[in-house]
Amino acid sequence: MNHEQILVRRGSRSGLPVILAIHTTAPGQAIGGCRLAGYAEWRYGLDDALRLSAAMTQKCAVAGLPHGGAKTVVALPPGAALGPGERRALLHDVGDVIAGLDGAYATGPDVGTGPPDMTTITDRPTHVFCLPPEAGGSGDSSPHTATGVVAALRALCEAVFGTADLAGRRFAIVGLGRVGAPVAPPPAAGQAKLVVADVDPTKRTLADELGAAWVDPDDGLRSDVDVLVPAALGGVLTPAVVSELRCAAIAGPANNQLDAPGTADLLHQRGIVWAPDTVVSAGGVIYATGVELRQETPLEATARVRGIGDTLARILRDAARDGVPPAAVVGGGSRDGR
Ligand SMILES: NC(=O)c1ccc[n+]([C@@H]2O[C@H](COP(=O)([O-])OP(=O)(O)OC[C@H]3O[C@@H](n4cnc5c(N)ncnc54)[C@H](O)[C@@H]3O)[C@@H](O)[C@H]2O)c1
Repeated sequence: MNHEQILVRRGSRSGLPVILAIHTTAPGQAIGGCRLAGYAEWRYGLDDALRLSAAMTQKCAVAGLPHGGAKTVVALPPGAALGPGERRALLHDVGDVIAGLDGAYATGPDVGTGPPDMTTITDRPTHVFCLPPEAGGSGDSSPHTATGVVAALRALCEAVFGTADLAGRRFAIVGLGRVGAPVAPPPAAGQAKLVVADVDPTKRTLADELGAAWVDPDDGLRSDVDVLVPAALGGVLTPAVVSELRCAAIAGPANNQLDAPGTADLLHQRGIVWAPDTVVSAGGVIYATGVELRQETPLEATARVRGIGDTLARILRDAARDGVPPAAVVGGGSRDGR
C-alpha cells in the first residue's frame, strides 16, 4: 500500500460512500479536490481516489508546493440526481470525514463540485480552498489553471519549435470548458490556427467567435496540428490514439491524460513531446492554495503559476538531454523511454 491513509465511510445523512485517500502528508498538509461522480460500483470510486491522490502528490512536488496529495471521491449511483437537500446532507457527510483529520487535509472543488460547495463542507478555512470570494476565498480556479496552461504552451513551443511565440502555431483544443475556452487565443491575438472540439454542441458558437474550425472530439484528438491541448476528460491518450496522432506536441489541463504510464513511452517513440499533465494543470491549485492556505498575495501566487513555464522548460531540457520522455523526469514513464 502506497497511501498513508484511506478512509471509506458511509455518510450518516446521505447513506452514500465517502472515500478519502491521503497519499502522503510528508511534505506538509495533504490537498486534493472533492469529486462527486457516478460509478457503477463504489469500488471504482476508490480506484479513482487512489490514482488521483497519488497524481496530486506529484503535482505538488513538481510545483514545489509544501503539500502532499489526497483526494475525496463520493461515488454516486450511476445517473443519480441529488436534490438540494440531499446534496447538502452529502456535503456535510464529507465535512465530517475531513473534520476527523483535524487539518491534515484540505479539499477543494473537482468534478461535480464548485466553490459554493466548499462553504457547505466546512466553515474552517484551513480545511478547504477555492472558497467563493464572498466567503473570503479565491473562487473558481479555472482562470489560474488556464494561465498556467498558456505558460506551459509557450515553454513547449520554445522547446519544440524554437520560439515561445504562439502566433502562427496550429492548435487543437479538445474540450472548450472553463479551462479550454480561456486557453483558446482570442481572434484579435490572431494568427494562431485553431481547431476545437467538444461533446457539447452549444460550444460551437464559441468556436465560431474564435474563428476556429469545429470538429468532433475524435477528429480533434487526431488533428494535423502543431500542438494538441487535451482539455476535457482524462484517459484520452491510449496506445490506439497515440498511433494515429498527427501533432508534434501535447500539453493540456486534463488530469490523467494517459490511459497507463507506459503510454508516455509510446508518445516518446513516435517523437511526440508530451508535457506531463501534473505540470501543465497545476495553476489552479498553485494559486488557490497559495492565497488561501499559505497567505501569499495574489501577485505572488500568479507569479508562481507563471513559473509553470520555467518548470516545464527545465523538465523538457532534462528529458532531451537524457533522451527520455518528459514523464520520466517527473516520475512517470521509463528512463530508457521504452
Ligand atoms: N478547472 C480547473 O481549475 C482544473 C484544474 C486542473 C485540471 N483540470 C482538468 O481540466 C479538464 C477540464 O476542466 P474544466 O474545469 O475546463 O472542465 P469543464 O467541465 O468546465 O469543461 C470540460 C469540457 O469538455 C467537454 N467534454 C466532455 N467530454 C468530452 C469529450 N469526450 N470530448 C470533447 N469534449 C468533452 C465538456 O462538454 C466541457 O465543455 C478536466 O480534466 C479537469 O479535471 C481543471
